[in-house]
Order: sequence, then C-alpha cells, then structure tokens
Amino acid sequence: MNLTEFRRRRRQLMGMMGPGSVAILPTGRETIRNRDVHYPFRPDSDFYYLTGFSEPEAVMVLVPGRAHGEYILFCREKDPTKELWDGYRAGLEGAVAAFGADDAFPIADLDDILPGLLEERERVFFAMGSDPELDKRVSDWVSQVRARARAGVHGPIEFLALDHFLHDMRLYKSRAEVTVMRHAARLSAQAHCELMRRCEPGMHEYQLASLFSHHCQMNGTAHLAYPSIVGGGNNACVLHYVENSAPLMDGDLVLVDAGCEFGCYASDITRTFPVNGRFSDAQRALYELVLDAQLAAIDKVRAGNHWNDPHQAAVRVLTKGLLKLGLLRGTLAKALKAEAYKRFYMHRTGHWLGMDVHDVGDYKVDGHWRELEPGMVLTVEPGLYIPRGAKGVAKKWQGIGIRIEDDVLVTRADPDVLSRDVPKGVEQIEAMMAR
Ligand code: GLY
Ligand code: MN
Ligand code: MN
Repeated sequence: MNLTEFRRRRRQLMGMMGPGSVAILPTGRETIRNRDVHYPFRPDSDFYYLTGFSEPEAVMVLVPGRAHGEYILFCREKDPTKELWDGYRAGLEGAVAAFGADDAFPIADLDDILPGLLEERERVFFAMGSDPELDKRVSDWVSQVRARARAGVHGPIEFLALDHFLHDMRLYKSRAEVTVMRHAARLSAQAHCELMRRCEPGMHEYQLASLFSHHCQMNGTAHLAYPSIVGGGNNACVLHYVENSAPLMDGDLVLVDAGCEFGCYASDITRTFPVNGRFSDAQRALYELVLDAQLAAIDKVRAGNHWNDPHQAAVRVLTKGLLKLGLLRGTLAKALKAEAYKRFYMHRTGHWLGMDVHDVGDYKVDGHWRELEPGMVLTVEPGLYIPRGAKGVAKKWQGIGIRIEDDVLVTRADPDVLSRDVPKGVEQIEAMMAR
C-alpha cells in the first residue's frame, strides 16, 4: 500500500469531518505476556488504516484546514540505545519523510501540545468509550482549553464517534485493498492445498497448524490473521477449538480454519477433508449438503441483495437436506419456522472481512439488514456440527463437524471468490490429497 492510499483515506475522512474539527486516534498498546516478554505488537487497525505506521506508542491527530499542517503524528523519538535493544524507530523525521506526516512531535509531549490543537476547534472526533484512559485524557485536554475561556479561547463543544465514520469507510474496499486481500487469500489458499497434500493419519492437529504457518511464512507473510483452528473428528464440533493437540485418526474428517494476514489485511478460509484422503458415504453426504448450502449462499452475494440473504439461502438448503437425511423431521416450512437447523448449525453464515478478521461495519442500517454493495468483502461459511453422543442421531453421523468458508468480494456482476484457489468439491479434494 503506498503513501497516496493513506493520504486519500485521510482526505476522505477530513472531508467528512469538515472545518473546525479535530480527530485523535492512538494506536494499540504493547501487552505484556509474562515478565519481560510482550505479545507480538500489531497496530490498531483504524490507526494503521489512516497512517500505515506500525510502531507502538503513537497518536495520529488530524486538524483539517490547519495552516501549519493537517496531519500530525506523535511518535517515539529516535534513540540509539533503545533501538539497539528493541529495534528500529522512524523517529520524528521518519514520520514526516517516510509516512507523509505534515508535522511530528515526541509522544512524550502529547499532553503539552494537544490542548493547543483543540483551541478554536468545535468538534472532536475520537473513539469515545473504547479506552477509559483515552476518555480521561481527552477530557483533561478539553478542560485545559476551557480554563482559558476568560482569555478569549474557545474549546470544543461537540464530541463525535470517530469509529462510526471510519468503520463505514473501511467497509468499502478500494482497488488497492482488494489487491492486498486477494493476495492474502491466495497465500492462505495455497497453504490449505499444501495441508491437503501432506495430511495423513497419525499426524497431530498442531502439525497441520504448523504446516499452515510455515507455508504462509515461506511465501511472503509473517503473520496469521487469527490462531488456526485444526479439529479432527469430534473436535471439529467445537467452533473455536484452538488446542490443536490431538492425533488425526484414520477415518475421521479434519476441519482447518486458518488464514494469514498480509499487509494488515486478513484472509479467513475453512476447509474440511478426510484425514486418509477418502470421504466415507456418511461424511460425503453431510459434506455435499454443506457445500450446496455454501454455493447457494455465495450466489446471493450480489449488489442489491441484503446482508441476510446468503444466510437465509444457506439455512434453507441445510434444512431441506437435514430433513432428507432424516436428521430432522417434519415439513420444510415447519422446520424453517422452528429454526430446527440450529441444533446442528448454530452460527451465522458470515461476517465482514478486512483489516480485522471479524471486520468493522454495521450489519443493519435503520433497523434493516444492510444492502450489499460493490467493494464489500464478506465470508461465506456454513457448517454442520454433529457431536459424538448427539441424542436421537444415528451413530454414522456422529463425531462429524464440517465448515466450508470462503472470502467473497461483492462486485457489480458475479460474486468474486478471493479464496477460490483451494478446492472444495469432493472429487477435487480427493484428487488433491492423492497427489
Ligand atoms: N476464523 C474465525 C471465523 O471464521 O469467523
Ligand atoms: Mn470467518
Ligand atoms: Mn474462519
């Protein structure tokens, strides 16, 4: 992503904010894992979306119309000793030269400088209520400005939720974003193919997880978008199973939900395949039902349809199929009305996808499901989960968990499946595994 893209986003946001306003946006914090060890740092998505700046301890301030520069970055100063221990810092000069800030100040001076930037600004945009420390600091800065009222200084009179504006922007992916997301999905798809080729009975779930990260890392990205879920047999029925500790058994299916992050953009793909390379009859019957549901749902990812259309399509196909297989009883109309499928399919069919795996953006507008529009990216991920011991369910269906998940871009024409490079048909999977 080049500087122009970040500048375009800041311009767009400042256009919405209008004159007489200011936006304040800190990045994420470093989190301690245990004594002297931190979790790997990942910048806050909103912050990175506007700055492309990935160091911790930074705050972006936008001041539309400010003569001395509209884009101010507070960040760490260069410090040879600290850099020797903890790594490179862009410093104030780098913030301007490499990241396009109009002005940069030391993060340590934030409390001294910020009140001055709020003078004569009526509206403050920041993510109220998301970080108590930020709430307190903003309120302190505002009181300092108000305290100067008798000197004729005017302070802000209105606070607006910055995230509300930003998240709507982030929902519509630009051409540059689609390129990056397509690349992330491709890397993940190739890694899923590699898992299909390498899987065999006796391997452990964590070994498939390790192969997935290895393949992504050997092909161009250091990070995953979320911890991989690798569940063999009955473990696939635990929706967010991340222990990944069990051996993979001959005759079981394995569910792999894994996606890399590339340039701070997520991919999110699930495939379910037989550990030994061949689907049993029962596995195939359930698998093909989930696949039919997924294809029906993907077909609804079209501009003008609403958010819930893919889910409804999936639920209808699943319910029909469960009735046919004898896993549900009664008529289609009654089963749909009673939401009987929820016993075996308890989550929704997808979510927005972008910089965050469960990306930002409202699903309803004015109480109605949102209309799909070109540039939106979502996952389509129906499943069926029939745990061991499920009451009143024939043995042959038990211990099977299946989910099939793809990343889909809404276009003016047909749905664009970004993760299409990994097979999902029964024959295609068996062929890939036979290699
Ligand atoms: N990987 C998490 C999800 O599919 O939503
Ligand atoms: Mn997902
Ligand atoms: Mn997933």
